[in-house]
Amino acid sequence: MNSWTRRKPIAPAGERHPDALPPTLSWPHLVALGVGAIVGTGILTLIGVGADRAGPAVLLSFAIAGAVCACAALAYAELAAMMPAAGSAYSYSYAVLGETIAWVVGWSLILEYSLVVSTVAVGWSGYASPLLAGIGFPAALTQGPELGGIINLPAVFIIAVVTGLLLLGTRESARVNTVLVLVKIATLSLFVAYALPHFDAANLHPFMPYGFAASDGGDGVHRGVMAAAAIIFFAFYGFDAISTAAEETKRPERDLAIGIIGSMVACTLIYLLVAAAAVGAVSFSRFADSPEPLALILRSLNQAGVARIVATAAVIALPTVLLAFLYGQSRIFLAMARDGFLPQGLARISRRGTPTRITLVTAVLVAILAGLLPIGKIAALANAGTLIAFIAVGLCLLILRRRSPELPRPFRVPAATLVGLGAIGGCLYLFLSLPTQTLIWCLIWNAIGVAIYALYGRRKSILGQTPLPVERD
Ligand code: ALA
Repeated sequence: MNSWTRRKPIAPAGERHPDALPPTLSWPHLVALGVGAIVGTGILTLIGVGADRAGPAVLLSFAIAGAVCACAALAYAELAAMMPAAGSAYSYSYAVLGETIAWVVGWSLILEYSLVVSTVAVGWSGYASPLLAGIGFPAALTQGPELGGIINLPAVFIIAVVTGLLLLGTRESARVNTVLVLVKIATLSLFVAYALPHFDAANLHPFMPYGFAASDGGDGVHRGVMAAAAIIFFAFYGFDAISTAAEETKRPERDLAIGIIGSMVACTLIYLLVAAAAVGAVSFSRFADSPEPLALILRSLNQAGVARIVATAAVIALPTVLLAFLYGQSRIFLAMARDGFLPQGLARISRRGTPTRITLVTAVLVAILAGLLPIGKIAALANAGTLIAFIAVGLCLLILRRRSPELPRPFRVPAATLVGLGAIGGCLYLFLSLPTQTLIWCLIWNAIGVAIYALYGRRKSILGQTPLPVERD
């Protein structure tokens, strides 16, 4: 059997890998992990980038990105409950689409998770830097070279802190996470409470100054509702990090679906309120491309004190996103190393239940990127990786419904064909709406990935070496 058709058998829910991580989490942890991973730099910072790309119609961009993500989240929920494996989209693809495509998906997830950590660290720095400037911290050390600085040191610092927290072990981290999630929701509520009363419909005119489809705005920047949606998409994902915790979940067949759908619904409601409050309160051009748009809007409304509270709370709470993605990243690596695609030594788990080496390697790489690159570029590339993974998840849902309708599905997506096609078509449209430069980088990343697979992974594949019974059509 060749590497295209080689598929991993679907492990029945409840069957555990001999080296499985200890099950310590239940659904409230998962909803907290989900909201912790979803609400972050997307709503706090990229809302400014989105407003720059689409004007007030960034509201529409939120709705479009949210609808596409909802389809992907539903597909994830069905697959995660069926196959509670730690590798999320990578593991589903290995069971459904074959080894070569699974590798590409896993490689794209590595891009997603790494660059999300870098993006959020830069977003954190955007809110932390004005506070640091107050105590004389040099501005050149708060931005990468493209924006005229030397290095974004706060971004590097926060990655180091979160890595340390993660190395202390999952349980401790999950508790801290829950408290910080509450801080984050309180912060956004505070923003809405102060900004929404200033809603003025005049700020929504002209609603769509750059049109709908993504196109070059003349200054080399991609603009339009879809261009903004392709960036704002960043704000909605994170629920996939829940599925990477499947192995440590006490009742994965029930809790994963509750965690994924629950956190997604909660976040979408919060976002719509925040986005409406933001574009309604001031003209979009005032906060377009700001590194700390929500604080800026509050200051424009003469609420400097509240702006400081929001900025401080963002600084305290944003690390939950870093935590969830750094955690998810190490689990994806773990799943790929167990399958033989990455060196086994990297996947060794410490006594505290954390894969220390992988976590450290990842942290160093993402810290370098965060120290040097601007937020918009990193976020766009993170989105490219995520969109590839989501397209694969949509395909897995549709194919598995046809190929193995009899398999037990603890959670069944309603109107699966529509949802699957919505996820695939929507993600494809968002992907094509990304800046051309991003698509080129994504292509280069995947070319490197395919080369590594051809030279190393394909030979080392454990499934390729073991004559395991493989399920057939
Ligand atoms: N959705 C996450 C954020 O916005 C990645 O930070």
